[in-house]
Amino acid sequence: MENSNRDSFSGQFGIIAAAAGSAIGLGNIWRFPYVLGENGGAAFLLIYLLFVLILGVPVMISEFAIGRKAQLNVIGAFKKVAPRSYWYIIGIMGVGAAFFILSFYAVVAGWTLEYTFLALKNDFVGKTPDQVLELYNNLTSGNCTSIIVILIFLVLTSIIVSFGIKKGIERYSKILMPILLVIIVLLCVRSLTLDGAAEGLKFLFKPDFSKITGKTTLSALGQAFFSLSLGMGVMATYGSYIKKKESLGITAVSISLSDTLIAILAGVAIFPAVFAFGIEPAHGPGLVFVTLPGIFNQMVGGYFFSVAFFILLVIAALTSAISLLEVVVAYFTEELKIKRKVATWIATVGMAILAIFCAKYEAIFSFFDNTSSNIMLPLGGLLIVVFAGWFWGLKTLRSELEANGKKVYYFKAFVFVIRFIAPIAIALVFMDSIGLTEIIGRFF
Ligand code: PHE
Repeated sequence: MENSNRDSFSGQFGIIAAAAGSAIGLGNIWRFPYVLGENGGAAFLLIYLLFVLILGVPVMISEFAIGRKAQLNVIGAFKKVAPRSYWYIIGIMGVGAAFFILSFYAVVAGWTLEYTFLALKNDFVGKTPDQVLELYNNLTSGNCTSIIVILIFLVLTSIIVSFGIKKGIERYSKILMPILLVIIVLLCVRSLTLDGAAEGLKFLFKPDFSKITGKTTLSALGQAFFSLSLGMGVMATYGSYIKKKESLGITAVSISLSDTLIAILAGVAIFPAVFAFGIEPAHGPGLVFVTLPGIFNQMVGGYFFSVAFFILLVIAALTSAISLLEVVVAYFTEELKIKRKVATWIATVGMAILAIFCAKYEAIFSFFDNTSSNIMLPLGGLLIVVFAGWFWGLKTLRSELEANGKKVYYFKAFVFVIRFIAPIAIALVFMDSIGLTEIIGRFF
């Protein structure tokens, strides 16, 4: 039975647009290139793609199924589908992760906002990579302006969330993301025609497997979960707004494909330029911010495209931030019975305080960034698939996947993946990253 009082997305495109809006964001354009750059390039990309396929898609389907079955926020959902048990702890971790993520996410979104203003003022023009770096360092020093832009971003997010799902989220994602895609493709073209671009392509697509370490695999795992918004209840919450007649499998595959496409395109736009400008690929979180202005500088219509790009990036960040805040707000309103508007503002104030710490102290920023992606999300994902595969009941799972009346032919394969492949893969990556597999290997 569908609960008709609950807000829901208006159709397949609405859901895909909104969930893709959550998935596509700074994770693709800011985080993916910088983490790939730190982890040696192409080999990381391959592992990342593998993880999206064997872990991302199944975890997303499981989250959707749980959320849609329960028609509730993450914590409420687990309490409902697994009564008298402790599985709702996944939901609590998810709400915690939302706070963690949005706190550093808002900082990066703040940089994006500042870049929008700089682009508008035509401040990048004629600047050498060194000068852009100086500009970036200045801007990220945690000064007063950088705090103000973070607050502007968080307030914008809250305003949209306090309006509710349909009116707030759906309307914005549908039109704007395709425009962002077009600008990224143009950036790729410009970047690929720079002198020295080939080196960047080699870095991105020619794997050097000797570069794979426990840290590389863990970073690829974390990035896959982060980029697809998995493991913390965003997709469960959005799943609860998906109508029963829609196919969860098709939805998950479409979102994963579009998210991955944008990440790869971002890589193709960034790395040729990184090498052409002589920037260090392992530069860290500032990588795209020091690279992009140089590409726009050498582009016909660079002023127009840079302004449009940064505005759209802010919006992409907004649609992701909205989904993070929505996890917390759905929990506050449904479980704690706080009014939607009040709940939104309480959560926002908490996040704003954490975000200020992230802006001021790089160590806190990195700690939030790494812990949420590399530990909290994969752990959440692990628990979600273990629950869905072993404890929920395959009949219930199947009937939720087939709620649209269509037979799910891949069900057996899907169950095999969520029961064995996904949990073992995640556990192995965890063990490898702390050096356990090497120790065990010594005994054989
Ligand atoms: N996937 C979003 C991005 O790529 C970030 C995000 C992570 C959103 C986790 C929600 C949950 O920008």
